[in-house]
Amino acid sequence: MSINSPWKADFPALANKPISYLDSAATCQVPTPVIQALSDYLSRGHGNPGRGLYRFSESASAILQTCRQKVADFVGANVEQIAFTKSTTESINLVAANLRNRLTTKDSILVTEMEHHSNLLPWQRLCQQTGARLHMLPLTQQGEFDLSGLANLLADNCRLFAFTHGSNVLGNHPPVEDFIQQAKKAGVPTLIDGAQAVAHTRLNLSELDCDYYAFSGHKLYAPGGSGLLYVKQPESIEPLLLGGGIVKKTTTTNYQLSEGITRLEAGSANLITLVGLSAALDYINKIGLENIIEYEQRLYADLLDKFQALDGYQIISHSHSKNLLSFVSAQFHCHDIASILSDHQVAVRAGHHCAQPCLNAIGVKHCVRASIGLYNDSQDINAFIGGLKEVTKILV
Ligand SMILES: Cc1ncc(COP(=O)(O)O)c(C=O)c1O
Repeated sequence: MSINSPWKADFPALANKPISYLDSAATCQVPTPVIQALSDYLSRGHGNPGRGLYRFSESASAILQTCRQKVADFVGANVEQIAFTKSTTESINLVAANLRNRLTTKDSILVTEMEHHSNLLPWQRLCQQTGARLHMLPLTQQGEFDLSGLANLLADNCRLFAFTHGSNVLGNHPPVEDFIQQAKKAGVPTLIDGAQAVAHTRLNLSELDCDYYAFSGHKLYAPGGSGLLYVKQPESIEPLLLGGGIVKKTTTTNYQLSEGITRLEAGSANLITLVGLSAALDYINKIGLENIIEYEQRLYADLLDKFQALDGYQIISHSHSKNLLSFVSAQFHCHDIASILSDHQVAVRAGHHCAQPCLNAIGVKHCVRASIGLYNDSQDINAFIGGLKEVTKILV
């Protein structure tokens, strides 16, 4: 049975090209309507939003506001709760910076052992700077959480519980609703790293009711450079950067920040990335996120079937993963595997995936990861499986 993506033709980097791109968990390729929107915008005239009374600037302001509304609709939030940043990483750092003057040595921050370094290092530094303790909810060797110690960790003067919505190595999702419920019971705010979940899960952040949710546009078929931060109570946090566009009044010695979410966005907006994000959300909405999810899961089942028939590789991603497969070989280094796959025009990721504590917890140092997006098809899966057979032939 061959599974063909009805959307591959929309991606000029992949359609009819000798490449099987299986690294969408790192970043996605960009479809023609997004490329076209970037070109149209720049051809029509670029402006700085909120800075001029002429057409280019006014149109830029409208694009920025429309994009904010589209993001809010996409994740089930209020438009006033969505801040633009550069990346998931910056969004998380923004929240961490806000706690710098609020923590003491009596406090603690809680993360999980599943985290990408983006949702770990900012908390490590915050704790080093303030003397607060960093606690880690451990992962079992099967890549799951033992929740029995969670209440105690939350009760230890915990000031924030930060956790991922989806592992970039194991592919499974932690029990986020349980995490939030338990955190609420203990009066602890929650931050979710949604980088891996946002393209594969229908979100309703108002219902989920976390305090912060961070994600990136480039995992949603937009070009790099747009990050998002959902903030439940925007007035509760301060900007990471200070500069133009965020004040009510400035004197020679002081400033008064404006109200609302835009005060988190000092400096000129990276508008071209928002043009891309806006067009990417239109693209996804037109297809329907549920249709994308259903297609990816069907293709992933095919990938898993074919992979399991191979000898010599051990799957380390979780059985609940629906879009990424991570594996190791007892014989070959993961970089050798990825490099030979690359020679066969198959793009996968190899290494520690910026999640070293997570890999340690499951007892491996590095692995290969193949991840799928809406443009992948059986041809890509077959090229991947064929490439792995070549690896064995070449390296044995
Ligand atoms: C789970 C997770 N969190 C955070 C990030 C960082 O995202 P960005 O590089 O867009 O800031 C990634 C990137 O792959 C990720 O997989």
